[in-house]
Amino acid sequence: MNALQPSITMKQFVESKPGLKYVFFGGKGGVGKTVMAGAAAVALAQQGKRVLLASTNPVHSLSGMLNQDVFGKETPVEGVPNLWAYEIDTRDTIERSKQEIKEKIEWFLKYAEIKGRADEFVESATMNPAFEESAMFENMIDLMFADEYEVYVFDTAPTANARRLLGMSSVYSLWVNKMLQSRKEAQEMKLRLSFSKKKEEEDPLMDYLLKFRDRMERAKVLLTDPEKTAFFFVTLPEALPIAVIKRFINWFHEFGIPVGGVIVNMLIDASEVSDQADEFILNRIKMQAEYMKEIEEEFGDMVRAIIPLFETEVRGIEMLKRMAGLLFA
Ligand SMILES: Nc1ncnc2c1ncn2[C@@H]1O[C@H](COP(=O)(O)OP(=O)(O)OP(=O)(O)O)[C@@H](O)[C@H]1O
Ligand SMILES: [Mg+2]
Repeated sequence: MNALQPSITMKQFVESKPGLKYVFFGGKGGVGKTVMAGAAAVALAQQGKRVLLASTNPVHSLSGMLNQDVFGKETPVEGVPNLWAYEIDTRDTIERSKQEIKEKIEWFLKYAEIKGRADEFVESATMNPAFEESAMFENMIDLMFADEYEVYVFDTAPTANARRLLGMSSVYSLWVNKMLQSRKEAQEMKLRLSFSKKKEEEDPLMDYLLKFRDRMERAKVLLTDPEKTAFFFVTLPEALPIAVIKRFINWFHEFGIPVGGVIVNMLIDASEVSDQADEFILNRIKMQAEYMKEIEEEFGDMVRAIIPLFETEVRGIEMLKRMAGLLFA
């Protein structure tokens, strides 16, 4: 048995937040984020809530885990009433964003009487890897704003993006306001110089900036509301996954994003292993025990659940239900 016990369990935490609506799982690669998101979604659906389990990750794994094709549209999960799952089509989103940006640039080039082809600008703007991440983030907030479910569980927290968004949003607001002001001045100037008292021209770029700023503001309000939003961080009792979530948690505190807690995954149940076991296993158990001490020191009251290493990978609804039972024990 391990000494560390959650002082507030996952179950108690979720019960204390009846308005909880946006649930995220973050952590280092391969630690079990998808599995925990799946298990949490199953547990919440079993409580009778209408739940969407959504993946904004370009490399999807929900269909594999659920043993069911959920790519491209919101699909009812077989065997779990109230639960839908959805792998967003990344390529489609990116193409649409490119098109949208191209139209804006074309308009702007014409407006500013600059010679050049929009394509060149679009290529350089969308080559940036952050572009894909942003497109996924936009997808996520579209789902949130659509508001068709009681709870949204997102597989793979857009950690860097959430941090950037919130860190940048005040700077961004300043910047957009400044842009809006100078565009307004330019328009007034144009109007004064023209002979005909034409009505103010339509300005799609200004519209776009305004809409974007408002969307970001709305997203920020939702994502920083501790009654609605919780980010959970998954770690293993190992050095690197611990270091990764330590950093995430610090960022999140800095930006006022609500941290729901820490899930420790893949702990070998020492009580199941005899002293005569393979040295390899005994060494791993010893190593994990050391890191459990570090987890207790670092995260203490934030630990919500400690999940054992299963005998196989976690696939299919039956295993997810078993995981849900442990996560919400
Ligand atoms: N407690 C566990 N016991 C045994 N296997 C587990 C456990 N938790 C997760 N797994 C398995 O470990 C693998 C990684 O899990 P998962 O895909 O959820 O990680 P991830 O953090 O989402 O990875 P990625 O960063 O690639 O998205 C999967 O094969 C999963 O079935
Ligand atoms: Mg995953």
